[in-house]
Amino acid sequence: MKTETRNLTFRAFKLLATTGVGLFLLNMTLLSQKPTNFTSFKPGGEWLADDGKHIDCHGGNIIYVESLKTYYWYGEHRGQPRGASCYSSKDLYNWKKEGVVLEKGDIEIFERPKVIYDEVNNRYVMWFHYDGNSYTIAELGVAVSDSPTGPFIVKAHFRPNGNESRDIGMYFDPDTRKAYIGYAAGQTNLTIRIVELSADYLSVTTNDVDIKAHCEGPGIMKKGGFFYLLTSGCSGWTPNPAKYYTSPNIMGPYTIQGHVFKGDAGNNSFNSQPCYIFKIPGYKDAYLYMGDRWNGSGRPESQYVFLPITITEEGEMELHWHREWDLSMFTPERRR
Ligand code: GAL
Repeated sequence: MKTETRNLTFRAFKLLATTGVGLFLLNMTLLSQKPTNFTSFKPGGEWLADDGKHIDCHGGNIIYVESLKTYYWYGEHRGQPRGASCYSSKDLYNWKKEGVVLEKGDIEIFERPKVIYDEVNNRYVMWFHYDGNSYTIAELGVAVSDSPTGPFIVKAHFRPNGNESRDIGMYFDPDTRKAYIGYAAGQTNLTIRIVELSADYLSVTTNDVDIKAHCEGPGIMKKGGFFYLLTSGCSGWTPNPAKYYTSPNIMGPYTIQGHVFKGDAGNNSFNSQPCYIFKIPGYKDAYLYMGDRWNGSGRPESQYVFLPITITEEGEMELHWHREWDLSMFTPERRR
């Protein structure tokens, strides 16, 4: 009898203790998930999400979903679990971690995810660099989700039109609603090719050309009837001076124009490598350079270099360093 009472008391105590610990942990999680209060971009600086942790979202892109009035930032989640992460924001400064929206599982190399929203089918399509540890598989991968915050399910991986494909960039043309992927192709990324995607963005078409640009992290934008392709050299995780090319047609021919980063003392693109150019809606000519500061190894703590891109009156692409800046730099567009 005595033993039974003791057992009961012990079980009640254990229950209280575990519930207490549970509630304490829940409290701690909620306490650490505080909204941040950033009001500017600080390129290369510390950038925390609402979970109080460094944003882990590299080599990716940002989309704006008008119906949800929300920006989504996708990129490589280089911490555990490896794969693609997604963060959401209302202002581009403060980001909420939505989680790992694609776990790479058996995929050895999963890099540079780029997401596009298919308005017609209300689907989110993610393209990425699919590879093996020695980077010789060199394929494009494609994954789909019904929600911006995943989960994304891998549908296929292949070499576009038989070509090797490594670093990728993406361009969505708002005038034609067509989407394109720029990909580092050929052995050791000798060149960049551009391929047009199918109307549902789920596969590639045979409209695929070698634009003879060299060679990685391609970012594409359009201004004043010209397409601008910004691309880094090939030096792995070590930054190098990026160059840009222009063309009146997305598929080329492209003309090399030269270096973009002005006053770049280290001759290394302000210690960054391009991953995307995001046209910020609601502002006139607001082009956001998204770059990664890999620090020689691409760790989860790698920082971001986000800077405004200027196209001069002569049509030249320029990037200038700003220790801190905000969107007031751009002219708001009048609402229609
Ligand atoms: C970089 C590339 C990265 C990653 C790295 C591996 O040049 O841009 O995405 O592939 O090489 O060394």
